[in-house]
Amino acid sequence: MTLAPASRTPIPPGGRFEGRWLALREPADHRARDASLTAAARHWLEGCRHDDRPLQLIDLASGSASNVAHLATRLPGPQHWRLIDQDAALLAQADERLQALRDEAGRPLTWRTESRSLTPFDPTLLDGADLVCASALFDLVSRDWLAGVVQAMAERRLPGLFTLSITGGWCFIDADGHDREDADDRWVRRILDTHQHRDKGFGTALGGAATDTLAERFAAHGYDLRRAASPWILPPADADARPLALALLDGWAEAALEQRPDSAARLHGWHVHRRARLEAGDWGVRVEHDDLFVHPRHAP
Ligand SMILES: C[S@@+](CC[C@H](N)C(=O)[O-])C[C@H]1O[C@@H](n2cnc3c(N)ncnc32)[C@H](O)[C@@H]1O
Repeated sequence: MTLAPASRTPIPPGGRFEGRWLALREPADHRARDASLTAAARHWLEGCRHDDRPLQLIDLASGSASNVAHLATRLPGPQHWRLIDQDAALLAQADERLQALRDEAGRPLTWRTESRSLTPFDPTLLDGADLVCASALFDLVSRDWLAGVVQAMAERRLPGLFTLSITGGWCFIDADGHDREDADDRWVRRILDTHQHRDKGFGTALGGAATDTLAERFAAHGYDLRRAASPWILPPADADARPLALALLDGWAEAALEQRPDSAARLHGWHVHRRARLEAGDWGVRVEHDDLFVHPRHAP
């Protein structure tokens, strides 16, 4: 199966995330996030505040600052952010965007962007932080890498807000929001489950096991956890959401083909049929994610 250039997924197999893919997904990301977990993070930060110094917030694998854009007005200020990502082009976009961001009181943020790899994980990155954040990261990482982050946070008794980790669940939906799936969808989902564990630069990726693994690890360190679903819901009638739904479908088809080149004809049939349904506005897509807020049992 060869995809037409215009429909190729913006997520190259090497795992570099193009700015246009991150921009395409941002509105769905922001709608999906669970507000009660952000409020819990806010509450925690207010509770452990002892002076007026800026809160030290860190965003791991920040990309072009989507997570900061969502959180700035929802967390107390003043805020100083550290954004870390290996992609200098995305960080340049972040730098530009951060200039316009404000906290809830209308104060500008202060920040530092750091273009560096997070592998291996350097625990000293977290020194002096008040909250560790990451969005759409933990499904890409390995069990060992995750364990290193949890260990570093537990040693410093830091809270964390980790949003939009995929669970591996997705489904086409009709105009009434009902699931539309058949044996081919279930077959493609199994193929993608395997693909999601491919190494994305951090070792064997956790894929849909990310939030369970985070939860297990933090619980073992005596943390309190709050977890909530944060699904993308892209209804068929929402023409604004359609480009994301189509890009997702194309990305799935490409990944499935990479995983099962022997099944090109069946995958091609699946892709063409689903694309026609999405383009016609008959079907939309729901993609499951989970958010997690963790904190040590007692505030410092
Ligand atoms: C799915 S994107 C999420 C970006 C951003 N958090 C958001 O929600 O839009 C994953 C990010 O991880 C970054 N990344 C991947 N591997 C990395 C590594 N080894 N070190 C640092 N950043 C990495 C990518 O450059 C990309 O920005």
